[in-house]
Amino acid sequence: LPEPDVVAPADGDVAAMLPRPAAESDKYRRGVVGIAAGSDTYTGAAVLSAGGAVRAGAGMVRFASSAEPVRLVRARWPEVVTTVLDTSSGVSLDAIGRVQAWVVGPGLGTGPEAHTVARAVLSAEVPVLVDADGLTIVAADRALLHRTAPTLITPHAGELSRLLGVPREQIEARRLEHVRRAAEELGVTVLLKGSTTLIAETGLPVRAITTGTPWLATGGTGDVLSGIAGALLAGGLGPYDAASCAAHVHGLAARVAARGGAAGGRGEAPIAALDVAEALPAA
Ligand code: APR
Ligand code: MG
Repeated sequence: LPEPDVVAPADGDVAAMLPRPAAESDKYRRGVVGIAAGSDTYTGAAVLSAGGAVRAGAGMVRFASSAEPVRLVRARWPEVVTTVLDTSSGVSLDAIGRVQAWVVGPGLGTGPEAHTVARAVLSAEVPVLVDADGLTIVAADRALLHRTAPTLITPHAGELSRLLGVPREQIEARRLEHVRRAAEELGVTVLLKGSTTLIAETGLPVRAITTGTPWLATGGTGDVLSGIAGALLAGGLGPYDAASCAAHVHGLAARVAARGGAAGGRGEAPIAALDVAEALPAA
């Protein structure tokens, strides 16, 4: 096969891929995304990931975690249907109905309870997006990625470094090579974050997304991205298109948010992660 090259989708390409509700759509057909994120220590990531999914247009967002993140998600996003997970005797997600794709990892922690949750999500026979602490968990047990349904991982360079056992500097120096290698070695779709975000799936050209702004370099924007991509997976896009569209609109939303307020269209101003979620419909 010829070496797959690198492509950058245009706004129109992404607009054509994004799921839109048809006249007869209902919430289930538009996609139910399950989010397993947050812990009593890290609650914010849960709110941000859920917010990305809500504002990206999921038909329904279901959220499962411990009590404190559930409380905060309910307070900020009343649209979300929540479940408090009891991890004391294993976790079953069977009662959490109709989930068409899962997001696991943001703020989850890496202790035994987080492992239990990650294992349960990754055994589900629907597409799964793994981010943040979920990536630390699968780096220690790569067999968790041997699944039948599609898997999308969304590391930054440090997280990919742990997954591949390659120093971060080497990844930063040759990002294209390493994103392809990760897709091959792990058998998953890979979205490598950075000022340019790269999406790799074996056999397909790498997609490069440059819609973002350096104002995105602030804590929590990655968590919002996980929710967007999860909503698109649940909406029926494959992991390669879901990742590409999510990164593209996430970058556009950040620009919309950064141009708002005092900057008044004449420049860019600081943004907070939740601003990116709120700017998604406009983007
Ligand atoms: N230009 C454009 N986009 C950028 C830039 C930049 N210079 N820098 C970062 N971004 C984008 C990335 O592409 C990605 O979409 O911002 C997002 C950052 O995502 P993450 O790296 O996952 O960061 P986030 O999870 O939000 O940060 C907080 O990171 O290492 C963990 O544990 C740490 O909780 C912390 C978490
Ligand atoms: Mg992150």
